[in-house]
Amino acid sequence: MKIGILTSGGDCPGINATIRGVGKTAINNYGMEVIGIRNGFSGLLHKDVIELTDASLSGILNLGGTILGTAREKLFRKMINSPDEADRETIKQCYNELGLDCLVCIGGNGTQRTTWMLSELGLNVVGIPKTIDNDVWGTDVTFGFDTAVNIATEAIDRLHSTASSHRRVMVIELMGHHAGWIALNAGMAGGADIILLPELGYNMKVIIDKIKSRVEQGKAYSIVVVAEGIDIHGGNNERPAIYFAREIEAQTGIETRETVLGYIQRGGSPSPADRNLGTLLGGHAADLIHRGQYGKMSAIIDNKISEVPLSEVAGKLRLVTHDTPLVEQGKRMGISFGI
Ligand code: F6P
Repeated sequence: MKIGILTSGGDCPGINATIRGVGKTAINNYGMEVIGIRNGFSGLLHKDVIELTDASLSGILNLGGTILGTAREKLFRKMINSPDEADRETIKQCYNELGLDCLVCIGGNGTQRTTWMLSELGLNVVGIPKTIDNDVWGTDVTFGFDTAVNIATEAIDRLHSTASSHRRVMVIELMGHHAGWIALNAGMAGGADIILLPELGYNMKVIIDKIKSRVEQGKAYSIVVVAEGIDIHGGNNERPAIYFAREIEAQTGIETRETVLGYIQRGGSPSPADRNLGTLLGGHAADLIHRGQYGKMSAIIDNKISEVPLSEVAGKLRLVTHDTPLVEQGKRMGISFGI
């Protein structure tokens, strides 16, 4: 059997561990031939591929990013949805010309949706969930998330000492476009006083009252964690950290500073947990191919390695809710979610 592996969407720590997990299991356990497709789905169209061997898959376990390169896949998805049947035929032709028996697509929500569309076209595909945001539906966790939470928690830890020295409010903006999992987990682990998540919304008066009541209790500084995807009332294009810092300073009179952590959360070496998660998800993808279980996404369900049909994953998001245990526990301890 010959399989192809591609990575699509935003990169994250742990992709290379996953490529290695798929490739080494496919080669050593199942005797499959493996190729890597460069730069996401566009590499499939351009047949831009490299051979992956046991030797070439060595030494990449701890590397950040993706050795295959990645890209957002808007154009490719347009081709699948095109009214012109010839576009879909081109995709199938490229797959066939590469001599593939299965294509493994490593990516987030958008990628899993595209992978499902390919499965609907009749191609043999298997998905593997990947994103720092941890919002892929159908799996309890995605690799990249643990590393991002570690980086973000360290950043919040570092803000504490400077916030306390200057008696300031520090607002830190973390990644998470639709889902606030990074902000929730890093905020709780970093001892934030206020955590603002896209899913829960916010009331500015609640935020201001919380900061003022901390001052009355003799707590001269506050740490506010905000997820980048929160909807700022007024709908301007300003970064949430800048908006909240300005409003808090204006309404409390306390000196306030903002930090936008940005792509640092996505870069660098994966945590041991993410390496092992990618290794397990990758190995299971090779098992699914061996068993002919196409159209599935490798997943962790109730702490066990498992799989879920791509048809169930496509178009959905896994989001924080009011009864997420960490939210409930935070509220019980007096941490404000701005609501
Ligand atoms: O999905 C991961 C993520 O890092 C989001 O948290 C963020 O909103 C987005 O990707 C940034 O995307 P891009 O790499 O296209 O700037």
